[in-house]
Amino acid sequence: MICVRNVSKRFGKQVVLSGVSLNIEDGKTTTIVGPSGVGKSVLLKLIMGILAPDQGEIEIFGENITRADSEAERNRIRASLGVLFQSAALFDSLTVYENVAFALNQRFSLPRKEVHERVVSMLSALSLESFAFRYPQEISIGIRKRVGMARALITQPKVVLFDEPNTGLDPLVGQEVYDLIKECRKKWGFTGVVISHELPEVFQVSDRVAMILQGKIIEEGTPAEFAASANPAVQQFLNGRIDGPIKIQ
Ligand SMILES: Nc1ncnc2c1ncn2[C@@H]1O[C@H](COP(=O)(O)OP(=O)(O)OP(=O)(O)O)[C@@H](O)[C@H]1O
Ligand SMILES: [Mg+2]
Repeated sequence: MICVRNVSKRFGKQVVLSGVSLNIEDGKTTTIVGPSGVGKSVLLKLIMGILAPDQGEIEIFGENITRADSEAERNRIRASLGVLFQSAALFDSLTVYENVAFALNQRFSLPRKEVHERVVSMLSALSLESFAFRYPQEISIGIRKRVGMARALITQPKVVLFDEPNTGLDPLVGQEVYDLIKECRKKWGFTGVVISHELPEVFQVSDRVAMILQGKIIEEGTPAEFAASANPAVQQFLNGRIDGPIKIQ
């Protein structure tokens, strides 16, 4: 389980998160939603220990990444996490094969033969064999997302964090990405953390939904509980209404 306990984060005078607590349960997918700029990516970076909170702490399977006192220690704790960043950036100068191998080489010093075997098996599990020697600019965005997934999964993480996996995609490719998440969760059974503002589409991959607004979690529950929330900000966000407590900047 990932425990986020009373976490606050500000940049200069701008308070982004103030007292966020959230339990991310094993084997489930928890989706974090909220309007643009509320601090969803910041929360993800705090979980990964890329940013440090001003207050509060974060435990990953009982290990406190906030109190870890060296990068080596943080790396050890991070080994259970895989991530697909918002941009899903692949290295343009590396082939699909090299992109996936890179993620493995970066974290572990494995014999070349083992790296090769693991990359080949991951590419095959994700039906990417025929793209192995292509460059990112030569493949479709949907295939690039699959490669991003292969890169995240190659280190065999217990948790996979997805930062807005569908942003900038047309609805058909967007649905392909949801199908990909479902397919991979079935195959590898990881705990998922998805950041999204695509409601209600993201519900199909969510066991729990939590919404951040003005630095706090304002609602948390199953998708059905979330959809039935009495909180006017949740209803405004869910229905994409201009009028309501959420002010569009
Ligand atoms: N390293 C940083 N230094 C200063 N300000 C930052 C930093 N990272 C994030 N912020 C600010 O924190 C706020 C929250 O940013 P964040 O990227 O978490 O938003 P978000 O909820 O992920 O939005 P989006 O849905 O658009 O991705 C923004 O106002 C952003 O400018
Ligand atoms: Mg973001």
